[in-house]
Amino acid sequence: MKSIHMINKVEHIPVLLDEVINALSLTKDEIYVDATFGLGGYTKAILSKKNCKVIAIDRDPQTKIFADNIKKTFTDRFYFKNGRFSELGKFLKELNIYKVGGVVFDLGVSSPQLDVKNRGFSFKLDGPLDMRMSCEGPTAEEFLEKVEENTLASIIFKLGEEVFSKRIAKSIIIQRSINKIKTTGQLARIIRDAIPVKKSKLDTATKTFQAIRIYLNDEINELEQGLIAAEKVLKPEGRLAVVSFHSIEDRIVKNFFLDCLNNKSWSRYLPEPPQKKPSLEILTKKPILPSTKEINLNNRSRSAKLRIAKRTAYTSSFGEIK
Ligand SMILES: C[S@@+](CC[C@H](N)C(=O)[O-])C[C@H]1O[C@@H](n2cnc3c(N)ncnc32)[C@H](O)[C@@H]1O
Repeated sequence: MKSIHMINKVEHIPVLLDEVINALSLTKDEIYVDATFGLGGYTKAILSKKNCKVIAIDRDPQTKIFADNIKKTFTDRFYFKNGRFSELGKFLKELNIYKVGGVVFDLGVSSPQLDVKNRGFSFKLDGPLDMRMSCEGPTAEEFLEKVEENTLASIIFKLGEEVFSKRIAKSIIIQRSINKIKTTGQLARIIRDAIPVKKSKLDTATKTFQAIRIYLNDEINELEQGLIAAEKVLKPEGRLAVVSFHSIEDRIVKNFFLDCLNNKSWSRYLPEPPQKKPSLEILTKKPILPSTKEINLNNRSRSAKLRIAKRTAYTSSFGEIK
């Protein structure tokens, strides 16, 4: 209860809000999915702009309090599900919904998740080493207690694109044999001390924290499965809008869009031969970035990239929903 009270006091400024709302091309009576509800910034804007419905999903149980508030205003037009967006198709089916007019993803973590030190995501605050969006499964502390050095180095390299991954992994393994690594502050210090020179303005703990968070929350698999699920549920002309915050996510989104355009998707996700028609039309040749004005107002928007696609009338690249 205490953490919910704390989270309630923290704000999250929705990123690229106008651009996302335009991307969805909202129509009356249509159903939209906000796959990463957070504090409901996008959901509120969608429901306020058109007389439509929103099905919102978030894996963080602490977001329910914000959903409950929105429900008071938009009673019949809003439904919230606490769960992972990779299961979006299943959740819609439970509601007898088989097609929707748009799906939006705003990836990564919200400001409350970052700013409440007990969530353990931030290298700027000293909290317990948790990092779990869903508040279940192993914590970052438990993970770092057992992981092997080579595996850790590979995670930090692949998911953080950190060139000093081996040095950092070695240092973590040495330090954990001396003292248990229990807090974000301890981990951040170990990483900073392991890196020889600071070359950029970025805190040297950034990439390693990102890597551990992505690994622990299975974010790559979630994103791939979430995109597939979204493509399947979109009706012809339905919009898919994805806001990402680092190059690994953006690459996955870009390649997914291209795969659906060029029908290469089968080779990567399914063993069957490709269909001949594109299931998505790409509406953003280059991603939409926040304006300088938005970055000045909300520094966290600085790395955001929005990609938009439109569903074609051809069959899904991943098989139709039954
Ligand atoms: C950047 S925030 C979204 C903020 C939201 N657009 C707003 O305006 O308040 C990302 C949210 O997505 C949620 N999330 C991340 N990965 C998820 C997943 N695989 N399934 C469901 N929710 C997820 C996080 O818990 C977090 O609340």
